[in-house]
Amino acid sequence: MENRIDIEKLSVRIKEKNLLREVSLHVKTGETHILMGPNGSGKTTLARAILGDKRYTVTEGRIEFNGADMLKLKPHERARMGIFVSFQEPVTLQGVNTLSFLKASYESINSTKVTMSEFKNIVGKNLQRIGLPESVNERYVNEGFSGGEKKKFELLQLLLLKPKIAILDEIDTGLDLDSMKVLSNAVNEMLPETGFLIITHNDRILKHIKPTLVHVMKEGSITRSGGLELVEEIEKGGYKIG
Ligand SMILES: Nc1ncnc2c1ncn2[C@@H]1O[C@H](COP(=O)(O)OP(=O)(O)O)[C@@H](O)[C@H]1O
Ligand SMILES: [Mg+2]
Repeated sequence: MENRIDIEKLSVRIKEKNLLREVSLHVKTGETHILMGPNGSGKTTLARAILGDKRYTVTEGRIEFNGADMLKLKPHERARMGIFVSFQEPVTLQGVNTLSFLKASYESINSTKVTMSEFKNIVGKNLQRIGLPESVNERYVNEGFSGGEKKKFELLQLLLLKPKIAILDEIDTGLDLDSMKVLSNAVNEMLPETGFLIITHNDRILKHIKPTLVHVMKEGSITRSGGLELVEEIEKGGYKIG
């Protein structure tokens, strides 16, 4: 089945500050959209607004999933529909065991129950693939994780939850070369069932991923959309383009 997320003229505010202005973006199954833009241009704001983070107020526009309004839904309801948003800065969940945390998300999204030993098996395979030690299972979510480990843990969630629409907020930052390969392989493998919006500063990920479209965000608006030539322009001239 094809899934799609349609963002139409979305404007978002935090406190009294307008952060996004009439952003439109359409992502569907099998597509990989790359979102680039200078620091503070609003990329994370867009990701958080799609997840339904309460701190961000939508003042205008729509977000629809398969034609249905998403804006009224709570973050966990959006997640259950198959929307996954990774954190640029993953938060520590003090006292929350990683395995229990992952199991709860897995069961909620798949509307199923699995035993702890079944789940350990599922996680185990993915831990191996990502190159995280089994001992992660005994730790608290992100507590004492290095920057790279936090990103690997986001990657683990992506692999486990197999979302319909995945928004990856600088998931590649801090990942080593091997993990970058795992990430790009995972994206390519999941593409038949998933649509991706990948926020990145880094053209490394584009070595193995073929973008459907590249978008450039500036001061809360998408100012350019196009092909890989945009990335080349940015490489040469920075974000002055557009
Ligand atoms: N909680 C917040 N309170 C006030 N301003 C914020 C908050 N979160 C983000 N901003 C501001 O919104 C703008 C966009 O931030 P962000 O979406 O994180 O940009 P990007 O991800 O492109 O670097 C920045 O100017 C940032 O300082
Ligand atoms: Mg950001």
